[in-house]
Amino acid sequence: MKSLKHYFKKAYKEKFAIGQFNFSDWSQVKGILAAAQNLKAPIILGTSEGESKYVGLAEAVAMRDVLRKKTGLPIFLNLDHGKSFEYLKEAILAGYDMVHFDGSKLPLEENIKISKEVVKFAHWRGVVVEGEVGKIGTDASRTYTEKFEIKEEDLTKPQEVVEYLKQAKVDVLAVSVGTFHGMDVTGVSPDIRLEKLKEITAVANIPLVLHGGSGTPEESLKQSIALGISKININTETRLAFANTLKAELEKNEITPYKYMVEPIKAVQAVIEGKIKQFGSEGKA
Ligand code: G3H
Ligand code: ZN
Repeated sequence: MKSLKHYFKKAYKEKFAIGQFNFSDWSQVKGILAAAQNLKAPIILGTSEGESKYVGLAEAVAMRDVLRKKTGLPIFLNLDHGKSFEYLKEAILAGYDMVHFDGSKLPLEENIKISKEVVKFAHWRGVVVEGEVGKIGTDASRTYTEKFEIKEEDLTKPQEVVEYLKQAKVDVLAVSVGTFHGMDVTGVSPDIRLEKLKEITAVANIPLVLHGGSGTPEESLKQSIALGISKININTETRLAFANTLKAELEKNEITPYKYMVEPIKAVQAVIEGKIKQFGSEGKA
């Protein structure tokens, strides 16, 4: 199987985005996998610190290995939004393909300092590193009763990208260009700033990552991919489809998991297939 680096290069060159789909439950993985198999797409399975602590780092790695072997698909594993170098080290040693160091809340100098340490530790072991500059609105994947307002000062500043990339040799970079984690009452993130993204791509010659992909209009996604977004993270839409379908199934008083999970898995598959098509990663495995 070709490496994750190979797929990032390919995505960057051919202008498609690899989907990162987060999970914390085996049934969600079944839905994600069915979609990837059906559409022959490379995928990254993502676990946040919280998700990975629930699943288990070693368990996630073992699962990825089995799925790769069984399907022959390029399936990779990313530790998403790792806040501490210590925990990222654990993920790397457990066998993750990629780690995302989220130092966005730190002063730039501190973010750079830790990113450099992560890069040194990861690259020596062949692990891909995602850095982050700018704050992506909100921490958690959840739904809101009001409209979410993007703060101008949280958006990625191109000058900071220049400074960061000069020192921290990450492989890919997460940027804040108007999306946010979770979905607000409108159900869409209408404020994607393509002009800002253009300014960033003018100074960053590496694949960029769009977080908070849920609810982002298809047209904005397509335009941002054309500008250099090579990975898009999705969590909330998958969680919503899974949880809402599961609730409806449990209403029927079925108590056998392999029976009441059939529809939630299909619901996840439908969401992921839609995203893979929008990202242009269909047939890129
Ligand atoms: O890191 C994960 C994501 O950025 C997911 O964001 O829950 O809005 O899809 P989302
Ligand atoms: Zn994120």
